[in-house]
Amino acid sequence: MLLSQTVLSFFAATCGLVSAASITDVCTVGYCTLGSGTSGGKGGETVTVTTLAALTSAVADSTPRIVVVSGTISGAAKVLVGSNKSIIGRNSGHLVGIGLFLNHSSNVIIRNTIHSKVLSTYEDEITIKYSTNVWVDHVDLSNDRDHDKDYYDGLVDVTRASDYVTISNSYLHDHWKGSLVGHSDNNQAEDTGHLYVRVTYANNHFYNLYSRGPMFRIGTGHLFNNYWQDLDDGVRTRAGAQLLIESSVFEGTNDAIIAKDGYAVVRDVDLGQGTNEAPTGTLTSVPYAYTLLGSAKVKAAVVGVAGATLSL
Ligand SMILES: *[C@@H]1O[C@H](CO)[C@@H](O)[C@H](O)[C@H]1NC(C)=O
Ligand SMILES: *[C@@H]1O[C@H](CO)[C@@H](O)[C@H](O)[C@H]1NC(C)=O
Repeated sequence: MLLSQTVLSFFAATCGLVSAASITDVCTVGYCTLGSGTSGGKGGETVTVTTLAALTSAVADSTPRIVVVSGTISGAAKVLVGSNKSIIGRNSGHLVGIGLFLNHSSNVIIRNTIHSKVLSTYEDEITIKYSTNVWVDHVDLSNDRDHDKDYYDGLVDVTRASDYVTISNSYLHDHWKGSLVGHSDNNQAEDTGHLYVRVTYANNHFYNLYSRGPMFRIGTGHLFNNYWQDLDDGVRTRAGAQLLIESSVFEGTNDAIIAKDGYAVVRDVDLGQGTNEAPTGTLTSVPYAYTLLGSAKVKAAVVGVAGATLSL
């Protein structure tokens, strides 16, 4: 018994599939461990919010603070998130119609929250612009595919010279345009300038997206232990983007890896019925430690675990 628990917690710690989680956890996986690291609001006060007004004011400044979203908060708004924040979902913490908007922020954690139905007026469910050291972990992001593709914007987009971002253990589903890294093709100068837009996608479950699972326009992407299920278009690499895709599975996705002037190094990826048209790129290693599950184990490890499944 003791041995199996030890093995289990070792497995959880090394794979990022955390079974015993805390609201003060810091980023331990991927690019958000680099730079100055990502500890969010750790060390600050903990505030529980149940209204849009309370959420808006609790996340606005740059004072370290842990903001617990308890239960469902509905609205029609874009909430600006300042630096040094952890936004933590508890009691099925759910933001309906409310986009979180990071603009020139750093050191932010968004964890265990559910996000849905954010109209495109309020941008993406999580928008990360000009921001560094961001960890999005164990979130559930969805809308629906009943409207036209621009009724909602993205689920989580990382644009405009953002850097050191990790999106892990999350469930991105039932939506048109999943996740965009970089910006428009004609805005590359800004994104390629002083920063690289480095993003890790690890241990995620992507389901029933039309496109952008994710799409990189420029940038550096490390994608591992992901399970892509029933997407129209899977991963797209464009405009000089360099991706390293490892230990992952595509199922029910014809256009698994699509390229237009972008590149990918692909290792131990089960494409299922899909194709990989990306030319081999130069991203063969990343400067942090990580654990590959192996493509044969990814589906079982991720389904039902990815998403807002933590007890916090
Ligand atoms: C974030 O918090 C640190 C202290 O933990 C502080 O030095 C820094 O100024 C804060 N960042 C901003 C943008 O206020
Ligand atoms: C985000 O920052 C840019 C400056 O880089 C500014 O022009 C824009 O108004 C900001 N957006 C919001 C919603 O504050």
